[in-house]
Amino acid sequence: MSHTIAIFGASGDLTRRKLIPALYQLFRKQRLPDPTRIVGFSRTAMTDDEFRDLLRETTHTHSGALFDKATWDEFADHIFYQPGDLGESDSMGRLCRRLEQLEAGEPSTRVYYLATLPQLYETAVRHMGEWNMAGEASGARRLVVEKPFGRDLSSAQDLNTIIHQVFAENQVFRIDHYLGKETVQNLLVLRFANSIFEPLWNRHYVDHVQITVAESLDVGSRGRYYDQSGVLRDMFQNHLLQLMMITAMEAPVRFEADLVRDEKVKVLQALRPISTSEIGEATVRGQYEGYRDHEGVAADSQTETFAVVRCCLDNWRWKDVPFYLRSGKALSCRSTQIVIQFRDVPHRLFQTEQGSPLDANRLVVQIQPAEGIQLHFLTKVPDAGMQLRLTDLDFRFDREFPAGMPDAYQRLLLDVLHGDASLFARSDEVELSWAFIDPILAAWRSPAAPPLYLYPKGNWGPIESADWLAAQGRQWFDVCPVLH
Ligand code: BG6
Repeated sequence: MSHTIAIFGASGDLTRRKLIPALYQLFRKQRLPDPTRIVGFSRTAMTDDEFRDLLRETTHTHSGALFDKATWDEFADHIFYQPGDLGESDSMGRLCRRLEQLEAGEPSTRVYYLATLPQLYETAVRHMGEWNMAGEASGARRLVVEKPFGRDLSSAQDLNTIIHQVFAENQVFRIDHYLGKETVQNLLVLRFANSIFEPLWNRHYVDHVQITVAESLDVGSRGRYYDQSGVLRDMFQNHLLQLMMITAMEAPVRFEADLVRDEKVKVLQALRPISTSEIGEATVRGQYEGYRDHEGVAADSQTETFAVVRCCLDNWRWKDVPFYLRSGKALSCRSTQIVIQFRDVPHRLFQTEQGSPLDANRLVVQIQPAEGIQLHFLTKVPDAGMQLRLTDLDFRFDREFPAGMPDAYQRLLLDVLHGDASLFARSDEVELSWAFIDPILAAWRSPAAPPLYLYPKGNWGPIESADWLAAQGRQWFDVCPVLH
């Protein structure tokens, strides 16, 4: 069976930066099903050859030393281009005929990848419906939808409704590229392929969990988009909640798409809504100094570039264990990590040399750019009486597996081609996420909103975020990763 990937928004940034480089790497490693054709679709007038030339340059830039001219030339023979306007049904019809012509009457698995502006998703899906492009008479048909999936619950529901008028849910693959990261998948392995962590992974032993996605970059040239979005829509509704689900979920019976997603959905169902009256104590908001100077950002913008949300899960495993979700732009360093902070010993016999006793007994799952896991615990300093010091067991992917880590899109694209939706969000997952986020956004726009604290670039957000956590007897694990 052959495979065809039609990319909508083919002249855009995502196609050049992520999709084609990932497909090229899969081809180079001989992982792409043979044959797999790639058909770009967008408004720019281009021939097949012009499109290939454009992608050769950008793929070279994004692949560095992994780019090989001879392999690219072989790969490029599988790339085609169809100019057209997504807004016009006739253009979609022409694309449809081109796909049929390329498939030459052979059955083929087709993947339609929406890498275009989100405002165009609905029109694209409607036109696909008009041309019966979801019909599976001559092979499987799959739809990939990039984030953002809606901008609130009601728009996400509308989009799901329109998609379901054309595609069945099992044909739909909603991407969250965090789930394609090897270190995120490794968290599933850490939890469910080892027996030693499970007995500790609950309210009896865990004091709290910190999930931090810190970015050192500011919003750069994305001011226009970002000012309408803010950190909650841009990072929390998708990436941070996904990390929380994987950290908190129960083991599925089998590693199958619906069973995995059923368990993730249960985490969202257990998530306690944050009401307007609690918003001041459950969240912290921040904006970096200078944000309002970006092009496209309102001079009096109240958009958050930093946030902390304290999440509580009302279930047996996690009752009374706060999950602190935190993300921001223009912070000290780029660092995504999940910190499982275990409880302190019930009765202390020894004096610790540094920090609070909660410094010890911490599992740090480093997602990026450091990729590994550290277990922090106290140890005796030799020949120094009963002096103790914090030390750690340290696992690093790059030491154990020097071949390097693939980009998240490689795994996700391959899963779509194979029809495995385990690492993609289901419609209920997306809607429940928005149902949690919407009231926070609304409360932040109400008189009950906590202040929007300004923070200087290059810090861990506003100082008030540290004070806020200190008032709860805890402290952030604010350590920039050491990269080798
Ligand atoms: C995207 C957000 O979804 O994720 C960006 O829109 C953010 O604002 C990016 O920078 C972070 O992704 P990663 O993989 O670099 O952590």
